[in-house]
Amino acid sequence: MDKWFESKLSELEKLDYYKTPEKSKGLKLDANENLALKKDFIKKIAIKAAERQDLREYPLQQVDDFYLQLSKYTKIDKKYLAIGNGSDQIIDLILSVFGKEKRVTTFTPTFSYFIDRCLLYSIKIDKIPLLQDNSIDQEKFIQSAKKSEIIYICSPNNPTGNQFDKELLIDLIKNFDDKLIIIDEAYVEFASYSFCSETIKSQNIILLRTLSKAFGLAGARLGYCIANEDFSHIFKTIIQYPYAINNISLNIGSEILRNSNYIEKTIKVIKKERKRILDSLKEINNEIKVFQTESNFIFFQILDINKYEHILTQLKKDNIAVKTIGRIKDRKGGHIRVTIGTKMMNNKFLRSLNKVI
Ligand SMILES: Cc1ncc(COP(=O)(O)O)c(C=O)c1O
Repeated sequence: MDKWFESKLSELEKLDYYKTPEKSKGLKLDANENLALKKDFIKKIAIKAAERQDLREYPLQQVDDFYLQLSKYTKIDKKYLAIGNGSDQIIDLILSVFGKEKRVTTFTPTFSYFIDRCLLYSIKIDKIPLLQDNSIDQEKFIQSAKKSEIIYICSPNNPTGNQFDKELLIDLIKNFDDKLIIIDEAYVEFASYSFCSETIKSQNIILLRTLSKAFGLAGARLGYCIANEDFSHIFKTIIQYPYAINNISLNIGSEILRNSNYIEKTIKVIKKERKRILDSLKEINNEIKVFQTESNFIFFQILDINKYEHILTQLKKDNIAVKTIGRIKDRKGGHIRVTIGTKMMNNKFLRSLNKVI
């Protein structure tokens, strides 16, 4: 008999996969977590959440509480919301259920996990390169999208940090009401606009959100999506696992959402720092090209590839982890994505960079 399992394994072995950041004892500016949030604040919430739990029981009431807080925070009725074990899990479920024999249009560079997940499920994917200023090549994108059933737009985009022209996206969405449009708003709390109101009115948009970034809960694995009532209902009842998120995480999530005023304060601090770092990077010299960002990270290009390597070596020496994006087709040099941390962290990063530039 055909050793189908073995051949499937060797086929899977060849796939690209999402590389989690390296473990680092130094300064972690590589994963876009909210480092401006006080560690103690989260710790207290986590201890309280754990103490209140009886882990012998499956999560039930905790789910309802989380939906209630999410609904209050988003000002969206629960019937439009669905939760997941991080938005990664929601992406995975959407692709595994809706992606079969379909084609996706997105752009590149974008959130690599989404692309890798499409490849895992043998979903064809057409990645239209962003233009040099990180905007969408409208014509090419529309041509490709016409041939696809699914469109993925990361807004703001990871790793480039920018949001696209809203009117352009609204036009695009209007023209493609026969496609499934996934808009990933993992960083929306730092951005200028959301697609929330358009989503609720539509039958074909799924908006992805997470508590991993602005809310500082990357370790709790809490994501959610906003979509039309039918999708949300089917997702909750049929697609999602019965008990996808553990009791403690759900409680932590509810408590954080009750404290959203404090989170908003840290977002303001990050945005202020973002402007300061952007300005400092712009001032350095013409060896660096820094891009506009609407996220809690900055994306920049080092025009000379040797200098790029030199910078990476220096950052490593100083124990600072950043996301190395490397070369991008048709663009010079190498690219780096760096998370905005506290003032102290950001200064450490700038000092390290300045040793080379
Ligand atoms: C654009 C984007 N979407 C989704 C995620 C995944 O978020 P979560 O931690 O909720 O799985 C990330 C995490 O880096 C991201 O950058």
